[in-house]
Amino acid sequence: MQIPFLNLKEVNSQYRKELIQVLTEVVDSGWYIKSNHVESFEKEFADYCGTKHCVGVGNGLDALILILRAYIELGKLKQGDEIIVPANTYIATILSITENELKPVLVEPDEGTYNLSPDLVCKAISSRTKAILAVHLYGRIADMTKFESIAAEKDLLLIEDCAQAHGASINGKKTGNWGSASAFSFYPGKVLGALGDAGCITTNNEDLANAVRILGNYGSSEKYKNIYKGVNSRLDEIHAACLRIKLKYLEEEIELRRSVARTYLKEIINKKVKGTRH
Ligand SMILES: Cc1ncc(COP(=O)(O)O)c(C=O)c1O
Repeated sequence: MQIPFLNLKEVNSQYRKELIQVLTEVVDSGWYIKSNHVESFEKEFADYCGTKHCVGVGNGLDALILILRAYIELGKLKQGDEIIVPANTYIATILSITENELKPVLVEPDEGTYNLSPDLVCKAISSRTKAILAVHLYGRIADMTKFESIAAEKDLLLIEDCAQAHGASINGKKTGNWGSASAFSFYPGKVLGALGDAGCITTNNEDLANAVRILGNYGSSEKYKNIYKGVNSRLDEIHAACLRIKLKYLEEEIELRRSVARTYLKEIINKKVKGTRH
């Protein structure tokens, strides 16, 4: 028997009534860009992660690209700087680095967790290294306590790619709140998924948050004044409205996925299939 991996219709049908209601409300409001739902979602998601700021953007790739571009604009990174990144990450992480003419340095994962290995990261650090881009793969948070101290010791930026691990934590501190800036994807299949492409960044750094917001809005914070060479990458009102509903149930959704994982781990008898039981 083939078991479907993820049935999005079923996932979203749990919230159908509330989704339809809010979609109708957005259609009837006449406000589709940068309005109340975006502002409220940004506050609610920042609270969820425990950060001061959240800025909605078009998708997870843009979230990563704009964080790195903002650091270039703020003078913290420059073209050619090396960024350490897991070799087994999704291609978006690497593309965000090359898109900014920075240099990805691929580091192999820890074989027990398939997340970035702190020992191998230390070996890969050179005089040109300026940031560690840790990716929390397969819902599992990377070893952030170690990366935090490595980054502090070597004076590196620590950036998180949280696209696959909303809500994962170490001692109650969630993804999105470890690095100097973090990127999230709300692609429909993610644990917090929109009904289309969407993403955001979280940070405690106000300058970084402002720079990302401006870069994603054509480089403009004031109409017809463009201070950066920006792009159009904003979180749509319709996605923010749906995400606000799904955020209320995120902890339940995470627990549901954990219980499915527990069933797989219990029922699949194969030496190659291993994982951590929650
Ligand atoms: C680790 C990782 N980073 C970044 C992304 C990019 O997100 P998006 O598809 O929203 O651009 C993904 C998405 O699939 C991902 O898995």
